[in-house]
Amino acid sequence: MAVTPESRVWEALFAERTRAGAGDGIAAILGLLGDPELISFAGGFPDPLTFPAERAAELLAELAAAGDASAFQYAPTQGLAGTRDALAARLESLQGLRPADDELLVTSGGIEALELVTKSFLDAGDTVVVEGPTYVGAIMAFRSFQADVVAVPLDDDGLDVDALEATLAAGLRPKLLYTIPDHQNPAGVTLSAERRAALVELARRYGFLIVEDVAYRELGFDGTAPASLWSLAPDVVVQAGTTSKTFFPGVRLGWAAGPAEVVAQLVSAKQNTDQCSGALGQRLFEEYARRGWIDEQLERSRALYARKGSRLLTALERTMPAGVEWTRPRGGFFSWLTVPGDAAEVARRAAGEGVAVVPGALFYPDGRGTSNLRLSFSMVDEELIDVGIERLAALV
Ligand SMILES: Cc1ncc(COP(=O)(O)O)c(C=O)c1O
Repeated sequence: MAVTPESRVWEALFAERTRAGAGDGIAAILGLLGDPELISFAGGFPDPLTFPAERAAELLAELAAAGDASAFQYAPTQGLAGTRDALAARLESLQGLRPADDELLVTSGGIEALELVTKSFLDAGDTVVVEGPTYVGAIMAFRSFQADVVAVPLDDDGLDVDALEATLAAGLRPKLLYTIPDHQNPAGVTLSAERRAALVELARRYGFLIVEDVAYRELGFDGTAPASLWSLAPDVVVQAGTTSKTFFPGVRLGWAAGPAEVVAQLVSAKQNTDQCSGALGQRLFEEYARRGWIDEQLERSRALYARKGSRLLTALERTMPAGVEWTRPRGGFFSWLTVPGDAAEVARRAAGEGVAVVPGALFYPDGRGTSNLRLSFSMVDEELIDVGIERLAALV
């Protein structure tokens, strides 16, 4: 039978690797943000109050007036030399280690760094270990290359490294281990210094690469952070970073820092994604960082998020019934709630009451998380936190 426009169903032609439904998780979260009436604890978005509109406008005008063609031209795949120098200087001052020229790549956001690592390392059926729960975008990236995603639990001190060691001793052989050590998404916890040391030793012993996602690292409420995994063990770690939560996500800018051999492979992979990250964003960030403006913005952002986080915890303490538990973040955007009963049902009913939260199962690759909810305090108006949590508590 001839295919008519009415009978055509493209789904039959979709690639196998797109069939795991891996692409739906983030769309579901972003969908919740569409309704301005909702009090939204859903998206992990930076507060627009932190966006440097005036300074960005000033820099744009300067770049244009100076006839700086590099801001408007295609950039080298590895990134503009000046931007890489500014990023390397930042890593040196914040993490105590400066990547060599061939150990650093500019990416289009943190998510592209993860995509490039995934594309470079994972064949269908390869194993990647993640924290359970973990960032939805990472699960999606790994799934889209048909990897086997195995979750190891975490607790208040981050990834349970003893549980990981037991899993490895029992024979699991991952190529990659993905972790968000600082103010984790979605759990809001931070990996302890002792566990960091133990984790890099496991990577060396078992021969896997650690993918360290530092999306929230610079947003500790008190400005401090334990040593990064990459600075502890640059031989077995590739660090994926982003300026989305510290500068603004509209520029889609990030980095990957790791062993030269790995970075070369990522540069090669990038040639068949976007070929280069946007030069305009690279130049803006470079100038913004060189003038110390990023540090000023960070100081204000930390204070804002610390206030919001503290208000959230106070509201939870005041309103939640016995039997409900939550994590106490020391930075970042998130607290992770454990409720008695079906969290997805709570999230559905909360939406009916004008409050958006994300059900926990989305953050696991294996169906766990059914009694968890992620609360993001980053974008909700400070004054609405109390009323939002009161409504949620009434439902729990
Ligand atoms: C842990 C984590 N990694 C990476 C990203 C992606 O950031 P980007 O906007 O740089 O792609 C996010 C964004 O929410 C995140 O939470």
